[in-house]
Amino acid sequence: MNVIELDKQYIANTYARFPVQLVGGKGSLVCDETGKEYIDLGTGIAVNSFGIADDEWKAAVVAQLDKIQHTSNLYYSEPCALLAQTLCEKTGMKKVFFSNSGAEANECAIKAARKYGELKKGKDCYTVITLKNSFHGRTITTLSATGQDVFHEHFTPMTEGFVYATANDLDEVKTLAKTHNCCAVMIELVQGEGGVMALDPDYVTALAEFTKTEDMLLIVDEVQTGNGRTGSLYAYMQYGIVPDVVTTAKGLGGGLPIGATLLGARAQDLFTAGLNGSTFGGNPVACAGALSIINRLDETLLKGVREKSEYIFNELSGAKGVVSISGKGLMIGIECEKDASEIIAKCMERGVLVIKAKNKVRLLPALNIPLRQLKKAIQILKEVIAE
Ligand SMILES: Cc1ncc(COP(=O)(O)O)c(C=O)c1O
Repeated sequence: MNVIELDKQYIANTYARFPVQLVGGKGSLVCDETGKEYIDLGTGIAVNSFGIADDEWKAAVVAQLDKIQHTSNLYYSEPCALLAQTLCEKTGMKKVFFSNSGAEANECAIKAARKYGELKKGKDCYTVITLKNSFHGRTITTLSATGQDVFHEHFTPMTEGFVYATANDLDEVKTLAKTHNCCAVMIELVQGEGGVMALDPDYVTALAEFTKTEDMLLIVDEVQTGNGRTGSLYAYMQYGIVPDVVTTAKGLGGGLPIGATLLGARAQDLFTAGLNGSTFGGNPVACAGALSIINRLDETLLKGVREKSEYIFNELSGAKGVVSISGKGLMIGIECEKDASEIIAKCMERGVLVIKAKNKVRLLPALNIPLRQLKKAIQILKEVIAE
């Protein structure tokens, strides 16, 4: 049996995969089992921040592998401590909990919020307001936090304690805060899976103010928007707010699984020994790789992200077949006249990998994609959209 047949027989049917097996590559070029090469504008859904087999990231990972691959959280470990220090110094957050995925990072944030509510307003204060059309993960609790009914089907009863407000409607948040005993508001600043929709800056500023006056935590889910993706280290930095909790994963690891929950001043002391934990969380190899990624997200790199973003927006805005373009930095959604799946398949035929978000074509290229490759890929995409 070939790999596709093996997969179909033995892997749980949770993924609708493209009929392609990716076997290798370098940077933003990836190749399949036949040797066909593609320009990768998907990066494993915003994970391979510096593309495939990046030399600096690989060196950091291999150097750590030569020392020790895992310690458990019963012992101290340098890569984990250094990564936490770097994240805190670069964000102003105070403490970090490491896990292995975005969903787990969000689970930790929700635990922090419930503990905060209990401390401040008693045991009944556990409701978290999230936004309609959001996506926060696949565990039962993070699915419950996800404001899209379609994700709740088949899995009821969901974890209780989540209510949903329409994005950019502060009055709705205020009403929910009045009618429920709320400990936190949790938002994505650019709703990724929901169709790459950036929140309105005035709404975000007012929301941050509201959570402060109401003594609720503001949790920003930067699983997809974080780590340079939107043109700043974290997207909240462009909104001029200071969240109480920031969650991240995906691009932080550069290709290895890691989740991080960054706790700000109001949240830093909520956890005591035993209140959360993870066997693999803070794994030294994942942390060593992540540290090399974070250290490279300097102003020069971020400026490059913003410039490439501008190039894509300029090329595609008003182009034939394009209805609208949304997003921030190198997290872009393109609404097209034609069906997105058809465009994705045609791009693949022509050697460009793009993905989908709702009915849009989504682009999440490597932060350091060479301009030459980006230009070539965007021209192909433009032609396919216009056909
Ligand atoms: C905003 C956001 N939060 C959480 C998640 C879940 O992350 P993971 O798949 O690593 O659990 C995702 C994944 O797409 C995401 O985009």
